[in-house]
Amino acid sequence: MQSEYSLWTRENVEELLPVLRELGIGTVAYSPLGRGFLTGRFTSPADFEPGDFRASNPRFAQDAFAANMRIVDVVKQIAAGKGATPAQVALAWVHSRGDDVVPIPGTRRPARLEENAGALEVSFTRDELDRLEPLSRQVVGARY
Ligand SMILES: NC(=O)c1ccc[n+]([C@@H]2O[C@H](COP(=O)([O-])OP(=O)(O)OC[C@H]3O[C@@H](n4cnc5c(N)ncnc54)[C@H](OP(=O)(O)O)[C@@H]3O)[C@@H](O)[C@H]2O)c1
Repeated sequence: MQSEYSLWTRENVEELLPVLRELGIGTVAYSPLGRGFLTGRFTSPADFEPGDFRASNPRFAQDAFAANMRIVDVVKQIAAGKGATPAQVALAWVHSRGDDVVPIPGTRRPARLEENAGALEVSFTRDELDRLEPLSRQVVGARY
């Protein structure tokens, strides 16, 4: 089963996970980097190139974007504390959901592909997971 699943988009998948697991169906998590937002690479909607779908997504509208930066700040803090990148933290969180949940991050750059693969080496303390846990409830804006 493929659906959007990441630190900031959870309910749509988590309401299905019990029955998926009962039936032995795996989950493919698309947009696991929050469409790039969770990497901390974007600092305002003006960073999107003309024609980028994200510019018209509710989560990236001006006010929502600013509010959602608080989520990125937590991801960045945790990454800095463990010598990882924010992208690796976002992907490692998806890995932490279980062996039957597999993220498919998108990138056009080999260096980012290597960075993202490094997420397989990242694990979390209980305290770090507790800090990541509430982030999806703080998101502003619908996912579409
Ligand atoms: N089934 C569906 O309905 C559906 C819907 C949406 C997406 N998908 C699939 O899911 C996959 C990923 O989703 P997605 O591309 O929407 O979102 P994503 O993986 O959450 O984010 C991709 C964005 O993150 C950037 N990025 C990747 N690694 C990075 C890193 N280490 N540091 C900084 N930026 C990084 C990419 O930029 P660069 O490309 O410039 O590196 C791109 O802008 C794709 O294969 C897509 O086809 C499926």
